[in-house]
Amino acid sequence: MGAVVTERWDGLVLGASLATLEGEAGYGAIGDGALAWRDGRIAWVGARADLPDDARQRAVEVVDAGGGWITPGLVDCHTHVVFAGDRAGEFEQRLQGASYEEIARHGGGIVSTVRATREASEDALLAQSLPRARALLADGAATLEIKSGYGLDYENERKMLRVARRIGDTLGIGVRTTFLGAHALPPEYAGRPDQYIDAVVEWLPRLHAEGLVDAVDAFCERIGFSHAQSRRVFEAAKALDLPVKLHADQLSDGGGAALVAEFGGLSADHVEYTSAEGVRAMAAAGTVAVLLPGAFHVLRETTLPPLDEFRAQGVPMAVATDCNPGTSPLLSLRQAMQLACTHFRLTPEEALRGTTVHAARALALADRGTLRVGQRADFVHWNIGQPAELCYWLGGPLARAVYAGGRKVS
Ligand code: NIG
Ligand code: FE
Repeated sequence: MGAVVTERWDGLVLGASLATLEGEAGYGAIGDGALAWRDGRIAWVGARADLPDDARQRAVEVVDAGGGWITPGLVDCHTHVVFAGDRAGEFEQRLQGASYEEIARHGGGIVSTVRATREASEDALLAQSLPRARALLADGAATLEIKSGYGLDYENERKMLRVARRIGDTLGIGVRTTFLGAHALPPEYAGRPDQYIDAVVEWLPRLHAEGLVDAVDAFCERIGFSHAQSRRVFEAAKALDLPVKLHADQLSDGGGAALVAEFGGLSADHVEYTSAEGVRAMAAAGTVAVLLPGAFHVLRETTLPPLDEFRAQGVPMAVATDCNPGTSPLLSLRQAMQLACTHFRLTPEEALRGTTVHAARALALADRGTLRVGQRADFVHWNIGQPAELCYWLGGPLARAVYAGGRKVS
């Protein structure tokens, strides 16, 4: 008889309930659970009663959770956390009655953040952006998508993407970068949007060659770019085999959802004004609907995304913060889940799927979003008695510990 080879574990956590999110529905709950990891991956997950007898000896570190729940690390699949300055003044203007579109048309809005971001050095931009990323991490986000789009020239878009990568390195979490050169028209291109798109499609391969781009996005809207201009950006992405996503149908139905679906896009984001035809196109293409209730809330929107259509057509719904200085200064993904439940009437289970399984899918990350052997050991230990509490409390710290790749990062 040969000796039994026992696998060593880097860590083992016991004494919490697990929401594995495995299976098509439900939380995948395990009452008294255990989770072990090795080399940054989940090596064992299940009921504590089913652990092998030598479990404690196998693990280099044993953590007794002492209650609470463990979920997969949350995935914030739509953020603009890298920016300089703030737009609290515009918030006050909007409270006096000015609309987001009016402010943008008068030289405020995105372009005012562009001015501040261009002025900041790379280090200063990192210093301003890191606390926001830390706040998202502290409330459970172990993966962040981070967009450019406040530089709007080659050097400053590059600076933003480099800062995004540095945030991932500094915090030890997963960061996916998205090039959003087609976010707004910079002042130097006023009246020449097509020439600006020429520049954007020329920068993209250079930024990609530096390893700075994981996906490509555009703002398809009356105050953003047209359908035809967004299409040109997507064609440039396709030529490089880069996946696309779109700020689609946020303020009006611009046919954005169908456009991004036509390119087999990862996600259509916002989607408040998406038509039934757009939903069908998304379903056929497997494009995720990314709901951004923070922007909906801050802009006091009243038109709801076509939630029942998404459900009926089986379009997966993700939830993200859209953390940005204009429409969604939101520093907690859990709070975004809360807003998705109150404004969009998502169930807490849908909201949690929206920030785990479906959010991972919106970033084409097959290695996270559930607690399953072989997945990245990204998980959060929460101070809660039941999963619905994640969506129930407004604010306040609920995450006791956040692990990314088997390392405690918050
Ligand atoms: O997702 N809609 C365009 N982009 C952002 C807003 C950015 C800003 O106002 O600075 C959004 O809502
Ligand atoms: Fe956005």
